[in-house]
Amino acid sequence: MLHAIARSSGVALVALLLGAPTAWAEDAAAQPTLYERLGGLAPITVVVSDFIDVLVPDPQLNANPAIDEARKRVPAPYLKYRVSSMVCAATGGPCIYQGRGMKETHAALNISPSEWERMVELFKEVLAKHQVPAAEQQELLAIVDSTRGDIVTSR
Ligand code: HEM
Repeated sequence: MLHAIARSSGVALVALLLGAPTAWAEDAAAQPTLYERLGGLAPITVVVSDFIDVLVPDPQLNANPAIDEARKRVPAPYLKYRVSSMVCAATGGPCIYQGRGMKETHAALNISPSEWERMVELFKEVLAKHQVPAAEQQELLAIVDSTRGDIVTSR
């Protein structure tokens, strides 16, 4: 009886040791994507819509004549669609971003570091308003920050 228990617990121990790395790898693979943690496309479109609604009429950004001209020419719903599909794709969602590249899109806008900072400030306010958790906020800000080099072209 004791031998049987010792044998079976030995087998269990070996199985545990051998099985553990596989189990951890499966756990890691099953981590929800940022897209899933944000709640999917519906909440993403709500946050993006609010963000565009505060960005487009912002006086500090529109003091730049190139930004002002473009925001009058380009419909806000179009920007909402493009930015939503970009965020969906960049966070691991099922969308495919089919808009233009960030360098090409913003090249004529002469966006300065202070205008970039203003955009980040407005983005943070919108994330806070929607109570996006701190970790997810950081990940979204890192995605936005990764485009800075292509978008900020003036001093
Ligand atoms: C200060 C920062 C920014 C300003 C003032 C700004 C402004 C604009 C404006 C005015 C347009 C329309 C341009 C045109 O079609 O002639 C545009 C397009 C767009 N922007 Fe930005 N933008 C900023 C940052 C960003 C960031 C951080 C992202 C995403 C990470 C982004 C994503 C897009 C996308 C996806 C489009 C549409 C591209 C297309 O037409 O295919 N923008 N932006």
